[in-house]
Amino acid sequence: MKFFVDTANLDQIKEAASLGIIDGVTTNPSLIAKEGIIGTEAILRHYETICGLVDGDVSAEVIATDFETMVREGETLAAIHPRIVVKVPITKEGLKAISYFSKKGIRTNCTLIFSPGQALLAAKAGASYVSPFMGRLDDISQEGIELIRSLREIFDNYAFETEILAASARSPLHIVQCARIGADVVTCPLSSLLALLNHPLTQVGLEKFLSDYARSQEQAEKTYPRV
Ligand code: E4P
Repeated sequence: MKFFVDTANLDQIKEAASLGIIDGVTTNPSLIAKEGIIGTEAILRHYETICGLVDGDVSAEVIATDFETMVREGETLAAIHPRIVVKVPITKEGLKAISYFSKKGIRTNCTLIFSPGQALLAAKAGASYVSPFMGRLDDISQEGIELIRSLREIFDNYAFETEILAASARSPLHIVQCARIGADVVTCPLSSLLALLNHPLTQVGLEKFLSDYARSQEQAEKTYPRV
């Protein structure tokens, strides 16, 4: 299972990369806006910088909603770096753009997927990844994880090559559930990945190891004082 970090923040991407567990980065226009990056040139440079920080795919989203402009933006994004994946929303124009990019050998991530039917269309159009948004379904009291389960079943039925990129993951539980179902990738904030580290017994166990060791050293010092 691949882990992508869902942020446009360079410090977080560096920290995630330093852990040796990150296979890529996803961004979206809201995450770019959060970093206060203004203007097309600055945004393109930012994506280039991200590509230099991680050895994996970097999703960069088009802003346009019509086919022609999506194609223009997508080609500009794809020209930044071979590991850029053009992120396209699941709309009629988006489907046309995904199909166009697929024929041109430009990889895509179809975003804002909330139903199996949307994912099926994106896969048929040749998307490299589909991004089902689990957390946002949970937000409206629907089981986001069930969407991941349905997509795994459908994609396996037809051996689609499109990868399931479970997105909008907000908790360590989401990540583990996705791994059990067999999502190809999960993307989430660094904090959710780091939360996987935590277990009270690990903390208690480590404290005991260290205190036992310290006590035995003190004992040894008393029994065999250094001369
Ligand atoms: C995925 O590509 C999206 O950027 C992201 O996962 C959305 O997450 P959110 O619903 O927490 O904003």
